[in-house]
Amino acid sequence: SSSNYVKIVEVGPRDGLQNEKTILPAEVKIELINRLSATGLPVVEATSFVSPIWVPQMADASKVFKGIRRKEGVSYPVLTPNLKGLEGALACGVEEVAIFGAASESFSQKNINCSIDESLKRFEAVCQKARDENVRVRGYVSVVLGCPYEGDVSPQKVADVSKKLFDMGCYEISLGDTIGIGNPKKMADMLERVKDVVPVDKLAVHCHDTYGQAVANILMAVQHGVRVVDSSVAGLGGCPYARGATGNVATEDVLYLLKGLGMETGVSLPEVIAVGNWISKKLNRANASRVANAMTRT
Ligand code: HMG
Ligand code: MG
Repeated sequence: SSSNYVKIVEVGPRDGLQNEKTILPAEVKIELINRLSATGLPVVEATSFVSPIWVPQMADASKVFKGIRRKEGVSYPVLTPNLKGLEGALACGVEEVAIFGAASESFSQKNINCSIDESLKRFEAVCQKARDENVRVRGYVSVVLGCPYEGDVSPQKVADVSKKLFDMGCYEISLGDTIGIGNPKKMADMLERVKDVVPVDKLAVHCHDTYGQAVANILMAVQHGVRVVDSSVAGLGGCPYARGATGNVATEDVLYLLKGLGMETGVSLPEVIAVGNWISKKLNRANASRVANAMTRT
């Protein structure tokens, strides 16, 4: 796309908090989501309806989702790996869910305890039911630039899984550099292949910043026409499956990059910085956004 608008998908309350050691009370999560909604963000991923044994941080999904004050025009997707998750989400009145597959067999097994083929069967059922209920489905593909267990992942494999999720009815495919191991060359090679099978205006990039390459990778994606970027306030998060892994790229850093490029997001950077400093304090950790630290007077 040559459009000037980039949609920011804020994933801090989900991807960030699912990986923080500190488990916040539901009330604080709700306040985080409400505060983020007030900054102009068009999408705030709220929580996950997953097994509380697998991800204890998200065990309060229903309470959190029911507690948020939904702002007109803002989407609040939630993760639903299977029909059980979707049922829980529907009971709370969600309007959008996300399914999450992987481009490597090992990561699929470690993350959702099944093969890629089996996951696609489950996702098909989720998509069908979601369609019946008028609920939109976003599709994630993990480990698109490298896997903690298998190393390199072929762009063709990423394209194959992306196309299957798109054909199933996902309105958007988010390509996840789950462990932040990618670089701009890998991003370009992967996107070239995926763009052959899914229209570029249906693609998002979801970069973690472990190797400090996220902003460079996002720039490359924007130059390839991608106009949806996932990010996390204050760079919240980490990855339980990769030692030393950091969270998602910070929303503040992405906003600064895009503003510098002359792109529009509709999001207030100073307001996101304020929310990031507030939640970092609640988590008793440093704000991981370089831009937030540079722009915060102490
Ligand atoms: P499983 O153990 O194979 O599930 O887990 P099962 O179907 O065999 O069921 C076992 C038990 O779990 C049963 O309970 C089910 O009811 C329960 P029991 O009868 O023993 O009492 N169960 C559930 N409970 C709540 N919600 C559910 C649910 N489903 C089953 N939805 C499962 C399979 C997928 C559930 C599990 O592996 C799981 O929850 N995985 C989620 C892992 C996760 O959340 N990972 C992080 C999100 S993905 C991510 O971060 C990547 C992303 O950011 C992109 C990127 O960076 O690449 C999106
Ligand atoms: Mg992620």
